Amino acid sequence: MPKPDSRYVCQSCGAVHAKWAGRCDACGDWNTLSEEAARKPVPRGLSEAAGRRFELVGLDDAPVRAGRLATGIEELDRVLGGGLVEAATILIGGDPGIGKSTLVLQAAAALAAAGTPVAYVSGEESVDQIRLRAARLGLAQAPLRLAAATSVADILATLDRPGAPVLLVVDSIQTMYVEGVESAPGTVTQLRASAHELIRFAKRRSSALCLVGHVTKDGQIAGPRALEHMVDAVLYFEGERGHQFRILRAVKNRFGAANEIGVFEMQERGLIEVPNPSALFLAERDATVPGAAVFAGIEGSRPLLLEIQALVGPATPATPRRTVVGWDSARLAMLLAVLEARCGLAMAGRDVYLNVAGGLRISEPAADLAVAAAVASSVLDAPLPESAVIFGEVGLAGEVRAVSQTEARLKEAARLGFDRAILPGVIRNPGRAERSPGPRLHVLRRLSELFELFENRAPVPPSSRARLDVPARGAVSRDR
Ligand code: TYD
Ligand code: MG
Repeated sequence: MPKPDSRYVCQSCGAVHAKWAGRCDACGDWNTLSEEAARKPVPRGLSEAAGRRFELVGLDDAPVRAGRLATGIEELDRVLGGGLVEAATILIGGDPGIGKSTLVLQAAAALAAAGTPVAYVSGEESVDQIRLRAARLGLAQAPLRLAAATSVADILATLDRPGAPVLLVVDSIQTMYVEGVESAPGTVTQLRASAHELIRFAKRRSSALCLVGHVTKDGQIAGPRALEHMVDAVLYFEGERGHQFRILRAVKNRFGAANEIGVFEMQERGLIEVPNPSALFLAERDATVPGAAVFAGIEGSRPLLLEIQALVGPATPATPRRTVVGWDSARLAMLLAVLEARCGLAMAGRDVYLNVAGGLRISEPAADLAVAAAVASSVLDAPLPESAVIFGEVGLAGEVRAVSQTEARLKEAARLGFDRAILPGVIRNPGRAERSPGPRLHVLRRLSELFELFENRAPVPPSSRARLDVPARGAVSRDR
């Protein structure tokens, strides 16, 4: 029997339920509901009667321009849209151990060294541990103010006064608690209450606030997704733990472009910026191996070359495995169906493994053609032309569709020494583009034209061809 004064809060999305259930209706996650007291989380400071009148103003009044606090870490500043905005709140989320504390410590120390008053409050590490880390990062001299605390009331008692720091870093928001809220630290209720109080303080004192939040899949620790709407910018720090690359991605930014990425490398002495990520992502490439394609992508405002690798196994009677790292598995299933139906490439019953080298996750539809090329290359056991980049969207009818920013992609390809580009046929003025310096263009209108690129390949063995036992109408729409 649920107690009348308790409720069940999903620790993943924050939805409130009257009854316990194994699965949250709102987000679909399992085992994320936990019982919390139904009392109002934060006592209201003001009753309605005590409300004050405020002025409504016009849209055309001159806005007060917020200054930017550039950290000097270029990759971070770009993701923020040109530096941290004064008095803005940002949330940096990521898996535990990915390097969030390292990044915020480096950024905080850089700002402090440039003369900005910065306070760094950690609920996870002791002051000595932070000092040791800073020493290892070569930042021990930075005039950063440190404290280890977990009580929001204590933090506000210390900092909420004239001369409050220009930037307050709180690492992590999951360790913070507000007294009087009857939930354990780390629950969504505590998370929200703590973030709410800290944000109110930051707005009142015009301090910038940087909250660090862990993201875990198992729902034990409340996900910072519940905070996304409360802050001005949300950055996620991603990457495979075994890999040294780390990608900082803006998923929300009120002061800059979302989806902008910054690339870092985790080294002995902290996070090092990677100003030329294409070169890094392609460094270990072997162009002669079948099953690999170089995708000319756009991440945020920047072109980025990435290697897409595919491995297709022989047909097995068992259920085929489809394993995807760094791309959408539903999109892969669609592409495999198109390859089979429109190009006659037998994919049914075969294991397919797809990997985006370097640990980046791509979401652009422009990667379709590169993925199809990598898969086809693996099936045919023939490499793609050695110094070619490839991009384009693929439709269900097997057509290759135009994508944006063709020029930026070609420029990046040329910069890294690629002399061929395989791209959608629908580009403006292909004749002129062909005569201009840069990669030689090979345009495709249908996905099936891709197969002309595998020069000197062995003919497709009959067993690899799809059985074309579909009605005549379907056969008419087939390309070949
Ligand atoms: P950390 O910033 O503590 O991660 P988070 O705050 O996201 O939990 O970084 C943890 C990992 O980074 C840890 O496994 C060690 C590694 N690391 C380095 O490789 N080099 C360094 O200079 C530092 C500080 C950490
Ligand atoms: Mg940490």
